[in-house]
Amino acid sequence: MVTATQNRAGPLLFHDFALGIVESESLATKLTPPPETLSDEPLQPARQPSEPGRPANLQIRPGREVRVPSIVGFADPEQRVRILHALANHELQAAELFAWALLAFPAAPPNFRRGLLHILTDEQRHTRMYIARLNAAGAAFGDFPVSGYFWNKIDTIRSPLDFICAMSLTFENANLDHTIDYAAAAGQAGDHKTATVIDKVHSDEVEHVRFGWQWLQVFKRHDQSAWQTYGEHLTWPLRPAKARGRMFHRQGREAAGLDAEFIRRLEESSD
Ligand SMILES: [Fe+2]
Ligand SMILES: [Fe+2]
Repeated sequence: MVTATQNRAGPLLFHDFALGIVESESLATKLTPPPETLSDEPLQPARQPSEPGRPANLQIRPGREVRVPSIVGFADPEQRVRILHALANHELQAAELFAWALLAFPAAPPNFRRGLLHILTDEQRHTRMYIARLNAAGAAFGDFPVSGYFWNKIDTIRSPLDFICAMSLTFENANLDHTIDYAAAAGQAGDHKTATVIDKVHSDEVEHVRFGWQWLQVFKRHDQSAWQTYGEHLTWPLRPAKARGRMFHRQGREAAGLDAEFIRRLEESSD
């Protein structure tokens, strides 16, 4: 994708790279890591696209058209490919949404923006890793309909604080549980290569949740607790119960540096 700003002399901007990730209809473009020379200046006006560009076979469909088997399906190869396909789509959405945050919040602290770019790069790698497992299982990315679970919440995100509360501290926080459970299911099914991939995603996710937690301390009001701030910056249907799996694994939260009160409140959260 060529944009006006890309024609300017000098290195590619965070903004242009992020715009390509969000708007491109090419999966290869979405999954290409940033060049070493990427620059964040000059900053560009904020943009908040409401949906991503996607190739025809990965267009986001209504949730009712998308069937993903539950975790017990991992034991069945036919269901396993559908689970791997959904995991790859989660990671692709994560890459797109970290790119979205780079477009949406040009005035955020430079370190925060560098952190977003770093995580975006991890999310691209996670997508490629799951696609590789999907291919090894005999399927291709785009073989099944995909949903837009993360994208469907984007209209409620108005600030960097809203973004980390939804993305880092809810979706990625919940994934600290899901990845442990899915890695165990893959291992029990004898799919050790997939289990290794999910373990790697888990350890990256610890760092992604740490990013959210650390910036929560920076962005929150001094007279509010982390938990209060978190709750106030979530928009229904997002809520603390969505930041955990059915099984709560506290070690991931401890590794990410969340404080004891936040972990306790999370463990107590239920629908
Ligand atoms: Fe990821
Ligand atoms: Fe992540």
